[in-house]
Parts: sequence; structure tokens; C-alpha cells
Amino acid sequence: MIRVQENNVKVAMFEYVQSSPGQTSETKSLESPQVLSLLPPFKGKSVLELGAGIGRFTGELAREAGQVLALDFIESVIKKNESTNGHFKNVKFMCADVTSPDLKISPESVDLIFSNWLLMYLSDKEVKNLAERMVKWLKVGGFIFFRESCFHQSGDSKRKNNPTHYREPRFYTKVFKECHMHDDSGNSFELSLISCKCIGAYICWVWKKVNSQDDKGFQRFLDNVQYKCSGILRYERVFGEGFVSTGGIDTTKEFVAKLELKPGQKVLDVGCGIGGGDLYMAENFDVEVIGIDLSINMVSFALERAIGRKCSVEFEVADCTKKEYPDNTFDVIYSRDTILHIQVSSLFLSLSLTDDFDKPALFKTFFKWLKPGGKVLISDYCKRSGPPSQEFREYIKQRGYDLHGVEEYGQILKDAGFDEVIAEDRTDQVQIELSLSLSLSLNVCTIWASEANFIKVLRRELDAVEKGKDAFIRDFSKEDYNEIVGGWKAKLIRSSSGEQSWGLFFAKKK
Ligand SMILES: C[S@@+](CC[C@H](N)C(=O)[O-])C[C@H]1O[C@@H](n2cnc3c(N)ncnc32)[C@H](O)[C@@H]1O
Repeated sequence: MIRVQENNVKVAMFEYVQSSPGQTSETKSLESPQVLSLLPPFKGKSVLELGAGIGRFTGELAREAGQVLALDFIESVIKKNESTNGHFKNVKFMCADVTSPDLKISPESVDLIFSNWLLMYLSDKEVKNLAERMVKWLKVGGFIFFRESCFHQSGDSKRKNNPTHYREPRFYTKVFKECHMHDDSGNSFELSLISCKCIGAYICWVWKKVNSQDDKGFQRFLDNVQYKCSGILRYERVFGEGFVSTGGIDTTKEFVAKLELKPGQKVLDVGCGIGGGDLYMAENFDVEVIGIDLSINMVSFALERAIGRKCSVEFEVADCTKKEYPDNTFDVIYSRDTILHIQVSSLFLSLSLTDDFDKPALFKTFFKWLKPGGKVLISDYCKRSGPPSQEFREYIKQRGYDLHGVEEYGQILKDAGFDEVIAEDRTDQVQIELSLSLSLSLNVCTIWASEANFIKVLRRELDAVEKGKDAFIRDFSKEDYNEIVGGWKAKLIRSSSGEQSWGLFFAKKK
């Protein structure tokens, strides 16, 4: 057993931990099943519970796990835990400080490391050190789960002392994302973010230990190239608060109205970005929204913005091409300017498995995830048929996009099993007629009056950026300003010449 000297900070922490930080009395009993539901399967596995406290989760973990090591640095607390949970013969109780170098846990011996409200009591440096050590203790393929309160204190407990660090969630995401380790044979390992979700006012992370060479290439591209944090904020300045896609809240209001959302319906937003559309749907239509996005940066922003909002939204870092949901789960699948990113990976191309991993496969999956009567609404960048110009080809290649013609896109939805497919070219007014004939060829029953169109929206966005030039340069940089203005002008040229288009797609599952 490792004895811990109680200094003033630790006593303060002890008092604070006992006061159940951030919980209102009525939420306490509801949360435990929600937290447990986020854990990867751990039946028969070895679990390390850090900061186990008086054992709110210890018994639950012990019921499933092969063995649990429950650890806390306050002797009286871990004793209380032992008196409650000591009848589980697969639990060992240890009084130890997680930050102490004396704490020895064998490398690669643990399947799941669990902690609840622990890291927020540690300094930044202690969090970083502990994260590194956790990776060492974990088996390859093992998981880390932690839940923390972020930003600010919440709940109804009165406290004398508060030694807590209410950090921005992206601090934890960054620290764990940057953790790397090598074993004695020179193999390198890191953590892959499996999910990051908001439960009430708290954020839960699940990480998996993976070999460094495991393919996370596209996620890295999104987070380090196209959607760096600074890049996201820059886009948001153009599209409007909460959005990184064409027309921001205006197109969102117009398109969401077509869904005729009803209270209690379940909506999946594929490529939710920073979550503005999800908050809009949940707050205005009382629907339950799950937003998934492959970019860790996007989801970190979305989570930050959702905190304290009184509506049902969940955000998760997930690749829509790999995510699994039971059949018939959602009433609506919604996706704005995202599916342009979905393309056949070079690995699958080389194996000639193209049909299974591209947009057709994704739309077939959407079809399965939707309930009968469910609806899908997608907006996306498209292109006219024929070879693109050199400039457009380079743009598509640099972004890693996979673009189709509007009509072809509608056909892919039909082929996936959807009914009443509407495929509208929303590039400009002139295109309305085109969309009419196109709609007819797809057996469409309804024809919408065209409102938002790409060129009009691009002009409006460009105009606003140019009018606010000084503030934009002050908040970002001259280079950022030039890139945005240049990029928007290029999109205007391409879409005016008809080379680039913007499609709006709506379809139903019978
Ligand atoms: C242009 S942004 C649009 C974001 C949001 N829909 C909006 O309207 O503000 C495209 C989003 O797609 C996400 N994305 C790209 N590939 C993805 C994938 N395979 N799974 C989930 N999201 C993905 C990107 O990270 C990015 O946030």
C-alpha cells in the first residue's frame, strides 16, 4: 500500500470530492447507467479504476469485469469503498496517489482504465504525466474512459474549497491525442479517440490504444489541414455562428423546414461540424439529435457550444463509413456539405472493393439506419459531367473531395432503395428548370420553389467578408483574408461557368 501525506490541497480536494462535484441531487441516480453505457465491453477483463472514491462505480465495474483494481489516495475513502464493495472477490482496493512515481502498475496489464472526475483535480502537468503512464499500463487494444466537468462548476452543492480545474474539453482531447509511447522492441503506440460525448454537463472520452501505424490518415488530414482549429473559426466567421457550410443558419432554416420535424423524433447529423444545425433542430423542434463527425476539432467545438443548452444533442467523434447503428433507429438523417469527403480509399481501390466503401455503400447504410417513413436530407458540392478544368481538378485533389453530378447523386440514392427522391441543382436560378426535368426523371412527386442558391449565397458571404475586411484581418490575418476572398471568388467563377454545382437531395424510406 502506498501511503499519502495529506497536505492542504489534498484535504481541500477530499472535501470537494465528497461533495459530489457538479451534480444536482436528482441527476446522481440517473447518470451511472448512462456512463456505463459508454464503456466498451469489459466482461471478464482487467479494469483499473483511478480515483475510485467511495465506490460509486466500483461495484458496477466488478459485476462484469474479471478483476478490478480500485485506487484512491484517501485512506478513509478507499476503506469506505472496501466496506461497500469488499464482497466482490474480484476487486482489490489500494490507497495510492495516481500522480505518485511510487505507483507501480505493470506495463500492458490493463484492458480498461476508468476514471470519473479525477483529472480535473490534477494540474496540467500531472494530467500529461498520468496520460503517458496510462498508455503504458494499457494492453494494445485496451481502452481509457474518463469523465470530467468542464468550463465551470455546476450543480447544487455548497463547497468551502474548490481546487478544481474547469478546463476547456479540448485540453483533455489534445493531451490524450498527443500521447505516444514506445515499447522495448521499438514499437510505437498512441491513443485513438473512439468517442467524446456530453452527458448532462459533463464530457466523457473513450480512447483506444493502437499501433501508431494504424490508419488515421484522413482524420489527421481533417484536423491538421482542412479543419485546423484556426481554420474552423475562420470558416465560421464566413458562414455564421455554429456553421461551416453554405448559407449557415439561413439555408439550415429553409432546408430543415422541409423535414417537418416532430417532437421526440431522432435525427442523425452526418458530418455535424461545430453543431449549429443540431442545436437549431433540437432547440426549435424538440427533437433528439446525434451529431457525428470525424474531425476531433469539430466535435470539440460542438461539445463546448452545447454545454448548458437545454436541449437533446449528443456529439461524437466517429467516421460515418465505420459507425454502426441498429436498423430502423432514426426518423431523419441530415447531412450538410459533408458527403463530398466520402470516397473510396486507395486500399479498397487496390482490392477492387469500390462498391462497398463509397457513397453507394453509405447511402445503403443510411437506408438501413432509417425507420420506415424516415427521411434523408443532404446538401453537397457536385460537379457537371465531363473532365474538370485543371484548376478545379487541383482544388478537388487538394481537398480530397469526391464529387458527382446532381442527377447521378440522386440516382445513387434511388439505387440505395430510397423513394420519392428529389435531386435539385441549387447552383443558381437558371438551374431551376434543369432541376424540374431532373426531378421528373427520378419520379418526383413534389417540386420545391427554389430559394437559397449557391451563387447568391457565395456572393452574400463574400460581400460580408469584404465589408468587414479590417475586423477580419484584425481577428485572423491578412493571409487568412486573402485565402478566403480568393477561395470564394474561385468558387463563384467555377459555379458561374457551370463547372461546380451544389445539390440538395431529399428522399424517403417507404
Ligand atoms: C464542410 S463541413 C460541414 C459541417 C456541418 N455539416 C455544417 O453544416 O456546418 C464537412 C464536415 O464533414 C466531416 N467529415 C468528413 N469526413 C467524414 C466522415 N468520414 N465521417 C464523419 N464526418 C466526416 C468533416 O470533419 C467536416 O466537419
